[in-house]
Amino acid sequence: MAAELRSKHGATVHVLPADLSAPGAARALADAVAAQALTVDVLVNNAGFGQYGPFAESDPAKLTAMLLVNVVALTELTRLLLPGMVVQKRGRVLNVASTAAFQPGPLMAGYYATKAYVLSLSEALSYEVRGTGVTVSCLCPGPTHTDFVANAALESSKLFDAPGVMPVGPVADAAYAGTLRGDRLIFPKLMNRVGTLGARFLPRGMLLRIVSGLQERKSPG
Ligand SMILES: NC(=O)c1ccc[n+]([C@@H]2O[C@H](COP(=O)([O-])OP(=O)(O)OC[C@H]3O[C@@H](n4cnc5c(N)ncnc54)[C@H](OP(=O)(O)O)[C@@H]3O)[C@@H](O)[C@H]2O)c1
Repeated sequence: MAAELRSKHGATVHVLPADLSAPGAARALADAVAAQALTVDVLVNNAGFGQYGPFAESDPAKLTAMLLVNVVALTELTRLLLPGMVVQKRGRVLNVASTAAFQPGPLMAGYYATKAYVLSLSEALSYEVRGTGVTVSCLCPGPTHTDFVANAALESSKLFDAPGVMPVGPVADAAYAGTLRGDRLIFPKLMNRVGTLGARFLPRGMLLRIVSGLQERKSPG
């Protein structure tokens, strides 16, 4: 992708690979950015993955890695790069949460909880930085066709069989436009926003049953 951007558009592109599940990865990445005297105008915390299945049976190492990527790295990168944006009086942070952020998710309990954290952090920061020229946005997509399903071992769940799974293009377009506008919350389609109203108004027990039903395994055959 870097080669394509350089050759087709004459862009200067720096690639700094990092395993964000490694403790200290965010600091190392921020140091690498500083060492190249680069100024960060836009931070997109997109990296993340899920873990499907009963919590008590989940792989503990994958659970820890998920917390490190979805929560710790996102928080640390924001903490390390936001001050430079505030000094410049311009900048954009986009944190990728999910519609999962709005309610607990039986059978993906840890993942839903990480996204609730991302939503909470992002909304609070969007308020803290108001008037500085910097904005913090939180993207809340519903199910989207990516490698997420395979990486979360979600093939056996009913969730991605439901109608309305989005292709990535419109999600990315909504994220891009919303981030430039400085929207606090970005929902790629209206139904994503409407769906979150259930989390506000339905009794919690009913909500848990609904989400659990959406997440449960397909019957064999
Ligand atoms: N797909 C959905 O239905 C959906 C819905 C709502 C929210 N989201 C969120 O959208 C974001 C992007 O996911 P996706 O759907 O595009 O899934 P994906 O195709 O599996 O992409 C995951 C991204 O996270 C990166 N990543 C994962 N582990 C990493 C690590 N240890 N260190 C550095 N980077 C790591 C991957 O980098 P590599 O490619 O280099 O491995 C990849 O860029 C995630 O935060 C996810 O929770 C997805």
